[in-house]
Amino acid sequence: MAGLPHVEVLGTERDDLDRLSAETWAVTSSRGLEVLHFAPAVAALEHPSLAKGVSFQRRLDDLGITEGPARDDWENMLVTTEGAHRRTLRRPFAVLLAGPQVKRLTADLRQIIEDVLDDIPAGRDIDLMADIAWKVPSRVYCHLVAAPLDKAPLVASLSDRTLAPILTGDRARRQDSIDAFDTTRDFVREHLGARRREGLGDDFASIMIRQQIDGLQTEEELIYEGIALLQASVDNTVHQLGLVLGMLLSEPARWKSIVDDPTLIPAAIEEAMRLAPRFNTVFRQAHEATELNGHALDAGDWVFVSTLAANRDPERFPDPHAFRLDRRMVRALQFGGGPYSCLGQTLARIELQEAVAAMAKRFPTLEMRGPWTCHVTNAVTEVVSLRATT
Ligand code: HEM
Repeated sequence: MAGLPHVEVLGTERDDLDRLSAETWAVTSSRGLEVLHFAPAVAALEHPSLAKGVSFQRRLDDLGITEGPARDDWENMLVTTEGAHRRTLRRPFAVLLAGPQVKRLTADLRQIIEDVLDDIPAGRDIDLMADIAWKVPSRVYCHLVAAPLDKAPLVASLSDRTLAPILTGDRARRQDSIDAFDTTRDFVREHLGARRREGLGDDFASIMIRQQIDGLQTEEELIYEGIALLQASVDNTVHQLGLVLGMLLSEPARWKSIVDDPTLIPAAIEEAMRLAPRFNTVFRQAHEATELNGHALDAGDWVFVSTLAANRDPERFPDPHAFRLDRRMVRALQFGGGPYSCLGQTLARIELQEAVAAMAKRFPTLEMRGPWTCHVTNAVTEVVSLRATT
């Protein structure tokens, strides 16, 4: 990898990323190629010779989930597979989460959020994570699949206990991730069984079951789709909602502008996600010798797209560090891209928009209280604490 500057480790520090981005579109590090600019980042995400499945397997290996039933199941799930198997798994999932199917749920989602806000005791500070962010996506999941609402806390904890150790590389939580995966499998099996016994409706569990009945997927693949829906729909949305609220409240003028003009909410959310993405890095690996932006890659080379850097590329986003509501609707990279892009992004955007809209209406003078704390890792950011007063 001659020709590009080398750093031992590319961190998440703003100053380092800005300094390197001003100098070069990518650097090499001890683990591979680190892409910093927007256009080559998109090229990497859409590159036909760069695969994602291995990158999730690598995360499992790094955590020490190398064998056993959980690993066997992970090996058959969308995020680890490639080629024809991946296409078989992604198609029913894409049908399930297609725009029109999800958009018809907007009014239901609004009601779920209103109910969450109704539960907040009056007259005390709001813990925006515990009182709102941890509640909305898990209740939405229960609604989607027609599961009892009282399962929402269990669903939130299963998604987090499974994914957080894998995404943050927290080896101390390895066994908990495995245990949570096993419980999720049982939960999904039982729930799909219950939906079959009760008679199918138009909820997502029923749609997935019909996909199996119609031969679009096997019984096993149905279970994997159910597990993936639970895992992927909750944890990432919880933290991205926390990051969006943190960004909007950290400057009072931002909150005021959306309270005064709610039509600005979609643009404000895109901008908050651009500046504070849940995923800081998206991984790929070359499965054959190829090149990226003129840079030669051997089979097996790793490529890491830094969304923290690419989302602030001045070529793509003039005045990149500024929070601006007048940008063209240029989508940044928080949902990845190419053939592996996030299938839940329409749903996630509706959840975020409805949550912020309901909060802006109900709490027009909301103010951040105390420090906003995050756990920032190379792969993701978790919001640890975020409080506000009305
Ligand atoms: C704001 C919340 C969310 C964020 C930030 C997010 C982000 C991401 C990212 C970065 C990827 C990997 C993309 C890539 O490698 O190019 C991904 C994949 C995925 N996401 Fe999301 N996601 C969110 C919410 C959701 C929701 C609500 C669902 C489901 C209802 C979902 C389902 C999926 C699935 C199934 C994949 C795997 C796609 C594949 O491997 O083909 N996500 N997401």
